[in-house]
Amino acid sequence: MVEMQKGHFPLEQFKEIKTPFYYYNTDVLKRTLDLVCKEAKVFDQYCVHYALKANTNPNVLTLIQSYGLGADCVSGGEIQAALNAGFNPKKIVFAGVGKADWEIELALQHDIFCFNVESKPELEVINELASKHNKIAQVCLRVNPNVGAHTHANITTGLQENKFGIGLTELKEVIDYALEAKSIHWIGLHFHIGSQIIDAGDFVALCNRINTIQAYLEAHRIQVGHINVGGGFGIDYANPNRQPIPDFKSYFETYDSRLKLRPHQTIHFELGRSIVGQCGSLISRVLYVKRGAKKQFVILDAGMTELIRPALYQAYHKIENISSDKEIESYDVVGPICESSDVFGKSIDLNKTNRGDFIAIRSAGAYGEVMASHYNCRELPQAYISNDFED
Ligand code: LLP
Repeated sequence: MVEMQKGHFPLEQFKEIKTPFYYYNTDVLKRTLDLVCKEAKVFDQYCVHYALKANTNPNVLTLIQSYGLGADCVSGGEIQAALNAGFNPKKIVFAGVGKADWEIELALQHDIFCFNVESKPELEVINELASKHNKIAQVCLRVNPNVGAHTHANITTGLQENKFGIGLTELKEVIDYALEAKSIHWIGLHFHIGSQIIDAGDFVALCNRINTIQAYLEAHRIQVGHINVGGGFGIDYANPNRQPIPDFKSYFETYDSRLKLRPHQTIHFELGRSIVGQCGSLISRVLYVKRGAKKQFVILDAGMTELIRPALYQAYHKIENISSDKEIESYDVVGPICESSDVFGKSIDLNKTNRGDFIAIRSAGAYGEVMASHYNCRELPQAYISNDFED
């Protein structure tokens, strides 16, 4: 059931601003961060890293950084963005199947906490570059645990067929190399099975697999200090008003009860969507309401160039007409881009809509602004945080 309640927006101030734009509610973000920090305390030794790929808006980053979170980066650009926002390099992890030499060198130069390494060839290059710069690179090996996640196929990462991580059959060989390599300090294991996971059973399956791997390694007298379980915790796209803050208590409790951490081990998380997803909305104006023979279309000034998730993953985002409280009608809500897939939602119940109305596309704080493009020579969207409207 999709709720009909609407979010609160400073509509009068929106009228002064060029649309489309992203709007981030700092109150929601702060309440989310408060809860993450509180509930993660269930672990003795832990670090929650914010996955920058979800949103790199500088205001958002600065706020997240102020809570002391670490940063999970997947490119040199993200490492730079994390450093600019004040994240502690000692809490930066760097993942990705294809790290370029300059990116590895940037990470070495700033002595980041660790590289999440995805293959032996990558490990060899990091060893070489670290040795060249007289550095020791701290490394976690990313394991492909062959655990599926009940989410969209495009955002599942932990299966054998996916490009990510080191296969279980190769793991021992890569560990042996990591232990030998002079400029590598191997400190742990990294996992990530996918994104927008709402079935806790998927995380339980990951825990079981990690428990088996740890037991196997200990049988070979190998112990590690760090277990990074990645991110992937999903949000409630259907009910952003009723459930704006994800249930971090049960998320962390799943890991606490199912993962057999050793007394000396630190657990790491890489959370993106669950931290920033619900604080953001894409705000646009209605350009036209077009009445066809069978349906009516609301044509927005925002399109897949600003928010590609519906077109790319058939993702659902709640859509609200925040200017109207007239009777409900059914519309297909579309963008102006010359692509048939430029649709935000079909048969959507909206208050009767007219040209000029403001439409909020909700739960767009994660993988929204960061995935915007210039397609059709469009400008990238501006972004505002709620503090911008306070006097
Ligand atoms: N760690 C690793 C290694 C990852 O690959 C990802 C996401 C995360 C952490 C953060 O996952 P999260 O907590 O945000 O689920 N563009 C897609 C999502 C791609 C996710 C890629 N990896 C979307 O819009 O749904």
